[in-house]
Amino acid sequence: MFRGPRLGRCLAALALAAVLAACGGSGERQLYVIKLPHVTAPQTPKGQAAQRFKELAEERFPGRVRVEVYPSASLMEDSDSLEAIAFGEIQMIAASFSVFDRLTKRFQVFDLPFLFPDIQAVERFQQSPVGQTLLDALEDQGILGLGFWHNGMKQVSGPRPLVLPGDAAGLKFRVMESDVLQAQVLALGGSPQKMAFGEVYQALQTGTVDAQENTWSNIYSSRFYEVQPYITELNWGYVGYFVGVNRAFWQSLPEDLREGLEATLREVTEWANARSEEINREQRALIEASGRSQIIVPTPEQRAEWRRAMEPVWAEFRDVIGADLIEAAQQAARGE
Ligand code: LMR
Repeated sequence: MFRGPRLGRCLAALALAAVLAACGGSGERQLYVIKLPHVTAPQTPKGQAAQRFKELAEERFPGRVRVEVYPSASLMEDSDSLEAIAFGEIQMIAASFSVFDRLTKRFQVFDLPFLFPDIQAVERFQQSPVGQTLLDALEDQGILGLGFWHNGMKQVSGPRPLVLPGDAAGLKFRVMESDVLQAQVLALGGSPQKMAFGEVYQALQTGTVDAQENTWSNIYSSRFYEVQPYITELNWGYVGYFVGVNRAFWQSLPEDLREGLEATLREVTEWANARSEEINREQRALIEASGRSQIIVPTPEQRAEWRRAMEPVWAEFRDVIGADLIEAAQQAARGE
């Protein structure tokens, strides 16, 4: 189609104006993209929290922010996301405290077996002044903590009934990237294998590992229960998430947007943390109804034996994690 020189100039000017507007030529219309990869399924507590953050952020700041959530390790596994956030390749992270082992030992307080009896105890500690200092634990690595999301308490599953700690001897256990969790399995006489979450189902299915520990929600949504005939309801540990952002990126946001996103995240955190137990309860019931796994509920005496078997783990990591931090967590757990 023939266009006169005047129309051509006019179209070129319009195109330039559109590009400037989209790229922030006016300083107000820049679109900020927040990539948030994580490893669990969309229906897990973390999957739901991430999706809600996306929806609310985009609704409240139309055209100014796009949150790209990549669930189920579809973009990367946790260990890669630690590098990616530090280098600014992704802007946001929601990874299990356990996988930060190589960046800070302080998060390992959440891995100590039997420290927290339930999610309420964890919540009290996270909200305490000492717990809140953990938000700043990765500042040196250029990562700002904005909140903590819960998943739930961990159960242990295997190819045979694990009623007493001695039943786990000789089994190959998948664990997250955490020395405490590795020591936990060694104390049982098992053989620990650190492995990315996305590889666990296949490893259990093919017998690369025999056993694992996780929350009801993760065991259900990643279908571990299909390949693990026994699950012991031990509630011996906690899975929760450090939610952080790349500091340079965050500080580059216009103030109103940054504050608005922080307020949105606080709201989402409250919403998600109030639902995590219910999600785990529902998904436990679905496992039970499937008939694929038998759920074993240990007696208080049997539980006490597991607790005793974990004493060497506490002794080994007391100084690594910091006796003060552990003491503060115990106090909060006791409700003091
Ligand atoms: C794991 O076992 O790696 C999980 O706890 C991961 C997660 O993000 O819940």
